[in-house]
Amino acid sequence: MTHVLVTGCNRGIGRALAEAAVKRGWQVTGTARTDFELPGVEVLACEMTDIKGVAAVFDGLPPLDILINNAGIYGPDSQAFGMDYGGFAEVLAVNSIAPLAVTEACLPALRAQAGSRVLSISSQMSFMGYRKSTRLAYRASKAALNKVMQGVATDLEHEGIASVLIDPGWVRTDMGGPSADETPGAVARGILDIAERVTVAETGKFFRFTGEERDF
Ligand SMILES: NC(=O)c1ccc[n+]([C@@H]2O[C@H](COP(=O)([O-])OP(=O)(O)OC[C@H]3O[C@@H](n4cnc5c(N)ncnc54)[C@H](OP(=O)(O)O)[C@@H]3O)[C@@H](O)[C@H]2O)c1
Repeated sequence: MTHVLVTGCNRGIGRALAEAAVKRGWQVTGTARTDFELPGVEVLACEMTDIKGVAAVFDGLPPLDILINNAGIYGPDSQAFGMDYGGFAEVLAVNSIAPLAVTEACLPALRAQAGSRVLSISSQMSFMGYRKSTRLAYRASKAALNKVMQGVATDLEHEGIASVLIDPGWVRTDMGGPSADETPGAVARGILDIAERVTVAETGKFFRFTGEERDF
């Protein structure tokens, strides 16, 4: 049975991912930082800013087919000049650093399953092809995530473990707001379809949730 781990499974895209994976009959492990229960999901307590804690959470995890680094934050209101620098550091900790720490902590479980893969939820806002300056901390954190996960792809390719980035579009969650284009359910289904089919031959790529490759 496919075993998937979804970080931040208590709401938004992460919750939709966990629910969709249960529907597919998969073994589902999730993380949340508050008390949370979801039928069919084993929920582990994990605060992403506590990097040492992250390392311990995944000790003894059973063999893992798919890791989805989903937990993320949008960060403080002021993100250009007048930056809330503490807030910027927190955004980098959650969005860029924790996914690497989670991936490293899950390596024994990923190595125990042939053809395992890591999907990390990035954003269109990481795009280097324009100069937008709003939400700089968030944009920079997702660009950093892309670079980190490209490096992970390079380092794990020889072990047959894939690492890809996902652009989920603009999604109706607490982060995306009520006017966003996509529903969490539709986005989750698209992401799980990619997770099911992606192989190490495509490692290092950046995909829209609909499955097409996109530019960084
Ligand atoms: N929504 C969009 O339009 C959109 C677009 C592009 C990319 N994304 C990305 O998609 C992912 C999910 O976004 P979403 O829209 O579902 O966001 P959301 O509804 O705000 O949910 C965020 C999730 O991340 C968890 N999280 C945040 N900070 C954490 C921390 N320090 N430690 C542990 N867990 C933490 C939250 O847990 P708590 O409930 O405990 O806070 C929650 O489960 C994020 O990486 C986001 O950047 C979203």
